[in-house]
Amino acid sequence: MMLENLLSIIENDLEAVEETIKQHLKNDIKLITTVGTHILDSGGKRLRPALLLLTSKLLKNSSKNRIPIATAIEFIHTATLLHDDVVDNSELRRGKSSANTIWGNEASVLVGDFLFAKAFSLMVDCNDLSVLEIMSTATKELAEGEIFELIKTGDLQINIDDYFEIISKKTAVLFAAACEVSAVLADSSVEDKELLKNFGYNIGISFQLVDDALDYISTDEELGKKIGIDIEEGKVTFPLIYALKKADDKLKHRVKEVFYKDNITKEDIIYIKNFVLESGGADAAINEAKTILEKSVNFLSSFENNEAKDVLIKLCNFIVNRRF
Ligand code: FPP
Ligand code: MG
Repeated sequence: MMLENLLSIIENDLEAVEETIKQHLKNDIKLITTVGTHILDSGGKRLRPALLLLTSKLLKNSSKNRIPIATAIEFIHTATLLHDDVVDNSELRRGKSSANTIWGNEASVLVGDFLFAKAFSLMVDCNDLSVLEIMSTATKELAEGEIFELIKTGDLQINIDDYFEIISKKTAVLFAAACEVSAVLADSSVEDKELLKNFGYNIGISFQLVDDALDYISTDEELGKKIGIDIEEGKVTFPLIYALKKADDKLKHRVKEVFYKDNITKEDIIYIKNFVLESGGADAAINEAKTILEKSVNFLSSFENNEAKDVLIKLCNFIVNRRF
C-alpha cells in the first residue's frame, strides 16, 4: 500500500505540519529558506510526525500542540540529516544532490543548526516541560549515537551490541520520543507513556535495520541515495557483522584484507557486498527487523481498537517492506 493512502486518516494534520514547516522556513536570510526548503521539500516520508499524529489519534487527543511539536520533530530529524551528510560526505539525499554538495559543508551545518534551534523554540512556545525533557534527552542521545558511530567507523571488530547501541541512539530514540510525546500531550498514564515509547523505539530499530539492509539490496534510484556507501565509508552494519560471524577463518581473513586496503576500489566494494549478500546478511537484517516489529505491535494491544491502531500496524508492515 502507498504510504500516502495509508496516512490519509491524518491528512489534515500532516497538511498543518507542512504549513508550519513553510511558515518557519521564511527568513530574511535567504540561504536559510533556500537550503531548508531544498531538504524539507524533497519527498521525505514524514514518518516521525506521522507517528506522533497517529498515536495522538489512537489516544483521541487533538490538543493543538501536536502540530508544532510534530513540526519540531521533523526539524530535528532534518537538522541531523544535514549534519550527517557532511559527516558522511554524501552526495545524494532523497534523489537530489545533497545540500552539502550544492551549498557546501558550512551552509549545511549552519542551516542544520538553525533548524535545530527552531525546533526547540517551537517546543518552548508549547510551554510543556515534560515534552522538552523528552526531546532534549532524545537529541542528546542522537548526538551520542552519531559520535559512537564515528568512533566505530572502519572497525571490523565492532560487535552486534555496539551496533544496536548506535542505531538505538542515532535512530530509535527519536521514533520513541515522537510516540511518547503524544502520550504526554494526551495526559496518558505512566504505563501508556511507556508502552508507546517502546512501540516507537522498536519501530525505530527496525527502520534502521531495514535502512542498513537496503544499502546492500536496493538501487540508487529506488533509495534516492547512493547504495553500497556503508562499505565505502567504513560503516560496519548488521549485514556485514552477520556475514563475518558466519564466515570461516580463511574467508574472514580475506574480507579483512580487502576492507582495510589503503585504497579501496570499486571492485573491492563489490567483493565485500557479494560476500555479505551470499552469506544472507541483508536478508538476516530484514528478518531481524520483522521479528522486532512483531514485538512492537504487541505494545499496542492494550489500547482500544480503532482506525488509528490499524494504520499504525500497517505502517509497521510498510517499514519492513519498503524499498526507499
Ligand atoms: C543517518 O544515518 C543519521 C542519523 C539517523 C542521525 C544523525 C545524528 C547527528 C548528525 C547528530 C545530532 C545532530 C543534531 C542536530 C542534534 P545514516 O548515515 O545511516 O543514514 P543515511 O544513509 O540516510 O545517511
Ligand atoms: Mg549518512
